[in-house]
Amino acid sequence: MQNFISLAQIDEAAQAIRKQTLLQPVAGIILGSGLNDLADSAQKAVHIPYSDLPNFPVSTVQGHVGRFVIGELEGKPVLIMQGRIHYYEGYTMGQVTLPVRVMQRLGIPNLIVTNAAGGVHPDFLPGDVMLITDQINLMGMSGLNPLMGPNLDEIGPRFPDMSQAYDRVYNDLARKVAKENNIVLREGVYAGLSGPSFESPADLRFLRLAGADAVGMSTVPEVIVARHGNMRVLGLSGISNKANLDGSTITTHQEVIEAGKVITPKVEKIVRGVLRSL
Ligand code: HPA
Repeated sequence: MQNFISLAQIDEAAQAIRKQTLLQPVAGIILGSGLNDLADSAQKAVHIPYSDLPNFPVSTVQGHVGRFVIGELEGKPVLIMQGRIHYYEGYTMGQVTLPVRVMQRLGIPNLIVTNAAGGVHPDFLPGDVMLITDQINLMGMSGLNPLMGPNLDEIGPRFPDMSQAYDRVYNDLARKVAKENNIVLREGVYAGLSGPSFESPADLRFLRLAGADAVGMSTVPEVIVARHGNMRVLGLSGISNKANLDGSTITTHQEVIEAGKVITPKVEKIVRGVLRSL
């Protein structure tokens, strides 16, 4: 039997954050692998390592710092996750999504989620940025849905709708900001797998047939929990490697970190532009 996170545990962590800042963030921002820099430019920032928070898992992945940065971007108060928690690290789905629950208990209405992803669409190149328009919950289809267990009725319904997981108004806003900044913004469907092994060429061909354009090891559980609590979501994938549909190349974590350097400035411009309009 999995240990489910209770509302009391979520509130303990939220209280610990409230004690350290009076800012009321308008958005939570989750930074993916290699995309940490945005947090370093936050103004009036308070840093809270996850290890200082009750009930919190600690991010163990290279390229993930593991702390909240609460401060201002474009004059808007934000709570940034510098480093996220992945299911493959061995945590439960409840632990993986606890930060999003905490955002909800802090009254944060919007989630901007970013990630490093592998290309599945054959035209996508390393360094591209993809607006996530929908997702495939492959982890959840095999029983790893973060909403399993007792429903938190105070936050949302037992059977939440997922027909518009990624907010259409925010998608339009992101398109507009990308255009203004001459950023080519790809669009597509993100498939979430547990990892940590990268996909085989046959996995990738399967994902392509299923309608995926990018694949990664995060985001999907976070977005499900966000939508359960009615947060509005914007999702951006940084494409760190080309789809290896024929098995001719290999994929490494180093490649993911390197691509992050090209992707970060683009993601940063889009996030800043969207924040200005919130
Ligand atoms: N697959 C899964 N996750 C990823 C990849 C990939 O190729 N690249 C970056 N994150």
